[in-house]
Amino acid sequence: VTFEVEDLDGNRQSIEAPDDMGLSLMEVLKASDYPVLATCGGMALCATCHVEVLEGKDGLGDASDVELDQLETLPELFPTSRLACQIRISDMLEGAVIKLRGEEN
Ligand code: FES
Repeated sequence: VTFEVEDLDGNRQSIEAPDDMGLSLMEVLKASDYPVLATCGGMALCATCHVEVLEGKDGLGDASDVELDQLETLPELFPTSRLACQIRISDMLEGAVIKLRGEEN
C-alpha cells in the first residue's frame, strides 16, 4: 500500500508499506526514520505517536475508547487526530495523507 507522510516541516513523502504483515502505522513511521517516540511501544498509553489524518480517514475505521481517552490527554487535538500505533496498515490506507504531530506534544 502507498500513502503520503507529511513531516513536521511540511515536506511530503510517499511511503510504501506491506499491508499483509499486521504492522501498525507507528511501526512503519519508525522504520522510515520519522521522529516518532512511541514511548509506550504501541500500547495506546503515551500519545507520542499522535498523527493527523489529512486525507483518507474514512478507510481507517473508528478509534477505540482507549485510543480516544489517550488522545484527549493531548494539549492540541485535531478533528482527525489518531494514534499511529492503533492504525493497522491495510489496503484501506491507499492514498491517505498522514501528518506527523508527535513532537509537538
Ligand atoms: Fe504510545 Fe502509540 S506508541 S500511544
